[in-house]
Amino acid sequence: MKDIYEIAVVHGDGIGPEVCAAAIEVVRAALGNQSPLNFREYPAGAEHFLMTGESFPDPTFAACRDADAILHGAGGIPGVVHPDGTEAGLDFTLRLRFELDLYANIRPIRLFQGVECPLAGVKAGDIDYIILRENSEGLYAARGAGVQLRGELAVDTLVQTRRGVERIVRKAFELARQSNGAPKDGVKRVTCCDKANVLRSYAFFRSVFDAVAPDYPDIETEYVLIDAMTMHLVLRPQHFNVIVTENMFGDIISDLGAATIGGMGLAPSAELGDRNGFFQAAHGSAPDIAGKGIANPYGTVLSAAAMLDWLGEKNGDERLAGAARDIRHVTNAAMSDGLLSADLKGAWGTAGITKSLCERLGQLRVTI
Ligand code: IPM
Ligand code: MN
Repeated sequence: MKDIYEIAVVHGDGIGPEVCAAAIEVVRAALGNQSPLNFREYPAGAEHFLMTGESFPDPTFAACRDADAILHGAGGIPGVVHPDGTEAGLDFTLRLRFELDLYANIRPIRLFQGVECPLAGVKAGDIDYIILRENSEGLYAARGAGVQLRGELAVDTLVQTRRGVERIVRKAFELARQSNGAPKDGVKRVTCCDKANVLRSYAFFRSVFDAVAPDYPDIETEYVLIDAMTMHLVLRPQHFNVIVTENMFGDIISDLGAATIGGMGLAPSAELGDRNGFFQAAHGSAPDIAGKGIANPYGTVLSAAAMLDWLGEKNGDERLAGAARDIRHVTNAAMSDGLLSADLKGAWGTAGITKSLCERLGQLRVTI
C-alpha cells in the first residue's frame, strides 16, 4: 500500500480528452477526498504531432514508464501519418506495448442490463467472456520494421516466440480459474483461437498452448480457428469464457465482440506487463463525434475501474479494490436505468452520464 499512486494521463485525440476526463472524475468521486491517486497529464498523439512534429515525446515516455499506472483517452487522427503511411497518433499505444512489454491485453466482453443486444434472443448475462489478446508480438511485432521494396512489394513478418506464447497462455488459464466460467454452462474454459490449419506460426502457437494446458487440469480447453470464431461469437457467444489469441486476431475479434454487446463504447481494456499497467478503452478516437459532448464514457470508466483493481491487487490496497467495485456497481445501475449515450440509442451526453455516476458514487458512500 502506498500513500500516493502516480497516474500518468495522456488524453490523446478526438474524443480521447472527453472520455478520459470523465473517467478521472468518476475515479475521484469513487475515492472521495482522501484519494491517494495523483493524476498528472502528459502530451502525446496525433494533435501533438501536428503541432510539434513529435507523436510521443521522451519525457512522456519516461513518465509513463515510472508511473504506477497509465491512463489514456484515445489516439489517432486519420490522415496524420508518417512517411511510411502508418498513423502517428498510434505511436503512443504501440510503443508503450513494446517498450514496456505490456504483453497481456485483457478485454472483457460483457452484455449489460439495459443495453439492447443486436443479436436476437440474447439478454444480459448471456455474454460474458474475456478476449485475451497477446500484445507484444504476432503480426504487430513488425510495426516499423516491415519492408517495402521499390514500390512493388511489401512484407510484414508475424513473430511468435515460445516465451511470448507461453506467458499469454498461462495468463489465460489463470483468468479462467478466477472467473465464473462460461454463461452457458458455468464451465471454466480456455479457447485457443488460431489458424493452425494453414500457417506454421499458428501451429506453433497451438503447440505451446498444448504444452501449457496440462498444468491446469481443472480448466476445459478447445481450439477454434479464427474464421470460424467470427461466426461463433455471433451465433453462440454464451459458450465462451476466456479466448486466447495472437495480437492481430485479438484486435479484430475485439471489435466484433464489442459490436455484440452494443458497440465499441462499452469495451474496456487493460494492457499489462510484469511491472506496468496501461488502461484505455478498446475504441479509437472517433474524430467525427469529437467535441460534441456525446461520446460514450463507459468504456474508459470501466478501464479506469480495471486500473484500480490492478493497482489494488498489486499493492494490497483494499481502498482501490473497493472503489473499482463501486464504479462497476454504479455503472451497471446507470445503464440498467437507461443512462445511455447516442451510440446506444440513448439521449444522454458524456457530461450527464458522468455527473450521474459521480452522484451515485456519493450516494453509495452516504449509504455505507
Ligand atoms: C486497439 C486499437 C489499437 C490496435 C491502435 C490504437 C494501435 O485498435 O487497441 O485495439 O490496433 O491495437
Ligand atoms: Mn483495435
